[in-house]
Amino acid sequence: MKAFQFRETAGMTGLILRNDLEKPAPGHDEVLVRVRATSLNFRDYIVTHGEYPVGMKPDVIPLSDGAGDVVEVGKNVKTLGVGDRVAGCFFPDWISGPLTQEVFMRSLGGPIDGMLAEYVALPERAAIPFPPHLSYEEAATLPNAGVTAWHALVEAGRIQAGNTVLLLGTGGVCLFALQFAKLHSAIVIQTSSSDDKLERAKAMGADHLINYRNTPDWDQEVLRLTGGRGADIVIEVGGAQTLERSLKAVRFGGIVTLIGLVSGFGKIDPLPLMQRSISMHGINVGSADMFRAMNRAIDASRLRPVISRTFTFEHATYAYAHQQAGHFGKTVITV
Ligand SMILES: NC(=O)c1ccc[n+]([C@@H]2O[C@H](COP(=O)([O-])OP(=O)(O)OC[C@H]3O[C@@H](n4cnc5c(N)ncnc54)[C@H](OP(=O)(O)O)[C@@H]3O)[C@@H](O)[C@H]2O)c1
Repeated sequence: MKAFQFRETAGMTGLILRNDLEKPAPGHDEVLVRVRATSLNFRDYIVTHGEYPVGMKPDVIPLSDGAGDVVEVGKNVKTLGVGDRVAGCFFPDWISGPLTQEVFMRSLGGPIDGMLAEYVALPERAAIPFPPHLSYEEAATLPNAGVTAWHALVEAGRIQAGNTVLLLGTGGVCLFALQFAKLHSAIVIQTSSSDDKLERAKAMGADHLINYRNTPDWDQEVLRLTGGRGADIVIEVGGAQTLERSLKAVRFGGIVTLIGLVSGFGKIDPLPLMQRSISMHGINVGSADMFRAMNRAIDASRLRPVISRTFTFEHATYAYAHQQAGHFGKTVITV
């Protein structure tokens, strides 16, 4: 079968197209998926540079996210059949409940092989049927960015109608968070470095727009927009350059969901956390149960993920370049 492998992790030169890999045979509890589409995340850039903190499988097949058709099932598989359309889980061993160290150590497209291949064998529990109105390309965007946003807003943030949600930037996670926040009738404060992206977020329902380049004191602007109260939930993807301000922008007793570090690692002063009873909740994508709950909401609302651009399999390296150059919506590779 065809697949990409990372021979060395010093950048894109290590990404090698193979035409001679053996098609995986599904185990008794696994299904074989003919992958139709995959999508990229910020994390895949980290993997490319060999900086993934959990470690990497040598010659790994990259990308955690993908969707396709079940073409074969193991003899113990009961809930899936040939022809089912499924997407893979980022953590194939995380079914429900809290995340454990063992589960955390095994994620697709880094510590174990991922989805940038024609065929992938997945445990039955980690192959999640997706809503029928979605294309393979749309479904391929769900496993990482979609589930992470759902986990942060719904599971950790316990979002309620009328809550104010602060979204930092218009990356993949935050665009899903925007869509899920509006599903819950929340008020969205959207930040971005680009006025053009802010206008596009507005068209998706964002209520208040802040350009964080032109308004470096964006935390003060959030307080102004909320009448001094602050946001109920912050989707914190920035890290070093944003965390301190996020803690100022959240309301007394509010929650900052810790998701990303696009501007590097930060340091936190614990005093405002304690004094203002702020919760900080570390997020690691999410479980299969969260994925299924999110899919039910997507199905009921007919929500469609935002895709920036789709590339063919042979042009996978261009997709990586597009993802790094900046985008509005997910970068997809068809297989
Ligand atoms: N913990 C988890 O489970 C988990 C899951 C998914 C992602 N993540 C992490 O979350 C982060 C975002 O991932 P992604 O896939 O959504 O990334 P992405 O699609 O590449 O988007 C990154 C966005 O971050 C915004 N940004 C950059 N610097 C910023 C700053 N100083 N202040 C505010 N926004 C800034 C930019 O928005 P504008 O272009 O609008 O300015 C950029 O588009 C990454 O660090 C990723 O590793 C973590």
